Amino acid sequence: MQNIVVLTGAGISAESGIKTFRDSDGLWEGHDIMEVASPIGWERNQEKVLDFYNIRRKQLLQVHPNAAHIALVELEKKFNVNIITQNIDDLHERAGSSKVTHLHGELLKVRSTFDEDLIMDWRKDLNSGDFCEHHYQLRPHVVWFGEAVPMFPKAVDLIEKADIVLIVGTSMQVYPAAALLDYVEFNIPIYFIDPNPAPLSRSSTYVISQKATKGIADLVNKLMKESV
Ligand code: OAD
Repeated sequence: MQNIVVLTGAGISAESGIKTFRDSDGLWEGHDIMEVASPIGWERNQEKVLDFYNIRRKQLLQVHPNAAHIALVELEKKFNVNIITQNIDDLHERAGSSKVTHLHGELLKVRSTFDEDLIMDWRKDLNSGDFCEHHYQLRPHVVWFGEAVPMFPKAVDLIEKADIVLIVGTSMQVYPAAALLDYVEFNIPIYFIDPNPAPLSRSSTYVISQKATKGIADLVNKLMKESV
């Protein structure tokens, strides 16, 4: 079976009703990144950070996977599919994808500020005073700016073995995620689906300037037909 690696960003969840970060009216237009998504912001104003993620978590529980998430599951019938997502939502999992690596953490998990390996599922609001078993404050299980990306080595391992790469709905502006392309073997086809695609410096890139639902549906049809 051929290996397909799919790198997704906020754009794949846009048609489910989750805002992207950098489009006009995106999340970062209304928020100062360093205030709500950095260790310094957390030190300065824990409540503000908790509020930001509480609102995101509530929204996530009200939306559903869209046709793009669902079409990627179809690929598993003929390919070994690994999804590497920058998204902290769980829409790939809810759609039914079996192998999902979250580079930037998961909104429906929290972790101890004492022991970063003490991670638990969390679906309600997270408040000041919600402690781990060692009596340390819990924080969102999300990678903030300036923090390490512990899943990056795993993502590199996966993308190095890819026979086909799909990139969907990402501005490719955030590192190290964007650097994953450097690990794709020479001449491996890269399909990039995004209505407003960033320029990529790879010759074997096929750019599909469409929204995820339409672009992925067409591409999945093509790949399924081509595979023996
Ligand atoms: P961005 O907001 O930077 O980019 C979203 C991309 O989605 C853009 O290229 C849009 O053109 C595209 N897009 C919009 N609607 C779409 C649709 N319907 N179908 C397909 N694509 C669409 O989001 P990311 O690249 O995911 O990190 O951002 C990367 C990281 O920056 C995030 O994971 C987050 C953020 O800061 C952290 O919080 C650590």
